[in-house]
Amino acid sequence: MKTKFPVDAFAKIETPFYYYDVELLKKTLDTVCKEAAKHHGFNVHYAIKANFNPRILEIIAASGIGADCVSGGEVAAALKAGVSPSHIVFAGVGKTDKEIALSLDAGIFCFNVESIPEIEAINTLAAERGVVAQVAIRVNPNIGAHTHANITTGLAENKFGINYEQLDEVIDTIEVLNNVKLIGLHFHIGSQILVMDDFIALCGRINELQTMLNENRGMVLPHINVGGGLGIRYDAPDKYNIPDFALYFSTYAQHLKLFPGQQVHFELGRSLVAQCGSLITRATYIKKGTCKQFIIVDAGMNDLVRPALYSAYHRIENLSSHKADEVYDVVGPVCESSDVFCKDRKIPATQRGDIMAIRSAGAYGEAMAFGYNCRSLPQSILSTDIE
Ligand code: LLP
Repeated sequence: MKTKFPVDAFAKIETPFYYYDVELLKKTLDTVCKEAAKHHGFNVHYAIKANFNPRILEIIAASGIGADCVSGGEVAAALKAGVSPSHIVFAGVGKTDKEIALSLDAGIFCFNVESIPEIEAINTLAAERGVVAQVAIRVNPNIGAHTHANITTGLAENKFGINYEQLDEVIDTIEVLNNVKLIGLHFHIGSQILVMDDFIALCGRINELQTMLNENRGMVLPHINVGGGLGIRYDAPDKYNIPDFALYFSTYAQHLKLFPGQQVHFELGRSLVAQCGSLITRATYIKKGTCKQFIIVDAGMNDLVRPALYSAYHRIENLSSHKADEVYDVVGPVCESSDVFCKDRKIPATQRGDIMAIRSAGAYGEAMAFGYNCRSLPQSILSTDIE
């Protein structure tokens, strides 16, 4: 299913804006639900950080998928979109009292906890309310994923999670507190991972840890949350528009050794929303340098920061031109040399006013936009807005 861009309609809309292909989003959600829930009985929580556009969230909530939140704002957004509190997990190293209180009052399913002071804070706030908060320990599995250094999270040097050596102390702490209950273990090794071996390595660590807890403490926790991280094909957004969820979930089904009754949870962000979104922009000027040609577009790094921040590749298409390719750098108008979407890329000969699509931008695109240079935040258009 190739995303079809309504170029005639785009011609009347002010750029830049994010365009979301609702049909593809729904098909992706259907595929995830089918592969995870129906085939394996796995629970999926959507990592809201990838895209918190309220209309996108509503579509995701309507599919029955839960939410993985990392701030009080995300918990509120999930509830507003219609996610049931019993399907909300809340992670993050720095949850404030206000965020914890909001989540306790809403009755969320589980806090993924990352330190002893945090567990104590949750316990105090839960006691004040006369409730018991369910918590899962985020374990740092010390696994390096094959991805960009800025988006690995599961290494000992990262700020996330609790290291193996501290695990006993953390469990002991939870056991003596009256208003927190340990229900699970949580892991996450990083993002944009396409190599299944990384997930297999994580399964190995989880199996080891489960055996250790069982042998040493006679402990079997009911919930195992393996985080997210499934990558997408930025190089071929139409050919691989829906990630290979069947392979992903069956990898876990095959390698994760579970005790009877244990439930498995996933926190997927990018793989659910990346391919349905594109940043639509116009060529403002074509500028010839001494050794380069630049397409200066009206979107900037403030609208889509991934290329500037991670040297990320996004396919760029000229939706108005079918001419022969030329070689360009596509750059934005922001006063930073890193405001570059791509360098030395073959793109059909482009002229001022042409409409371009920066593909695979549905995840960590709109969600990471900012207002540098007094630029407006990008608007969003859903395919269903256009008749
Ligand atoms: N769970 C936890 C604990 C996470 O930290 C993340 C992402 C996810 C789930 C969702 O991971 P996903 O399925 O989307 O890979 N801004 C970066 C990505 C940052 C990911 C942060 N954590 C980017 O644009 O590539």
